[in-house]
Amino acid sequence: MNDNELCWCGSKKEYKDCHKEFDIKCALKEKEGYLIPKKTMIKNENQIEGIRKAAFYNNALLDLIENSIHEGMSTDEIDVIATNFLKENNCISADYHYEGFPKHLCTSVNDVVCHGIPSKRVILKKGDIINVDTTLSYNGYYADASRMFIVGGETNEKAQKLVRVTKECLIKAEDAIKPFETTLNDIGRIIEKHAHKNGFSVVEEFCGHGVGLSMHEDPYVLHYSVNEKTYLLVPGMVITIEPMINQGLKGIYIDSNDGWTVRTKDKKLSAQWEHTLVVTNDGIEVLSK
Ligand code: MF3
Ligand code: CO
Ligand code: CO
Repeated sequence: MNDNELCWCGSKKEYKDCHKEFDIKCALKEKEGYLIPKKTMIKNENQIEGIRKAAFYNNALLDLIENSIHEGMSTDEIDVIATNFLKENNCISADYHYEGFPKHLCTSVNDVVCHGIPSKRVILKKGDIINVDTTLSYNGYYADASRMFIVGGETNEKAQKLVRVTKECLIKAEDAIKPFETTLNDIGRIIEKHAHKNGFSVVEEFCGHGVGLSMHEDPYVLHYSVNEKTYLLVPGMVITIEPMINQGLKGIYIDSNDGWTVRTKDKKLSAQWEHTLVVTNDGIEVLSK
């Protein structure tokens, strides 16, 4: 691309003032043997600002849910809270009708790993651990995050440890990200190591992902390491990291009653935390949390 041409990122800036330096760095890293992300995985400033706005609403929604969760409520009531919030704020649930998913968010209680469907029959009890995962779009941009909540504020020590260690897995991975240095495999390795050190296992069937212009984009973000080259993390990539960590064995199955609910095979607890983040010139910015 010539210096004075408009940059490939869609910024409408001249190449020399936009991604020229970025491309030079990528070329050097490629020579060193790194796998360089495709240009479709790189967002420009306008897109990042759009995703930041969507993330603002997604965070407000999770805050609202955090303040509303209580013993004795059904997970369907959480869905109702979300439905009203989304409507009031001109946001759209990305989950609703996604491959037939019937509700506006996922509520995954105790041995449910992910994709739990809000239900009037699931009543929260003191000491339950629940993951609430919300993905919304605002003005065409997407944000995706999930948090764990302990119903009634207290649970047993083992459950508390699982919730804490799972969050630590996410934070440790995030803290390690340096543009043009860290690879996706580094993320997987850090998560796996911290989970195993604490006697827990990592779910392998579900992973993080690119996000922003739709809910699920390239690349896959695995929460364990693999013996192959994985993408280098570079500025402008917007991804989720969302480790699912099991108290017992890593095996899971999909409940045949609804075709969605993912459960641990051994019935032990599972926890998950998810952030949407953008890789910046000196680290990351967590957008949705
Ligand atoms: N929020 C989930 C994710 O982190 C996706 C939910 S898909 C649904 O990728 F269909 F279950 F809603
Ligand atoms: Co999610
Ligand atoms: Co996600």
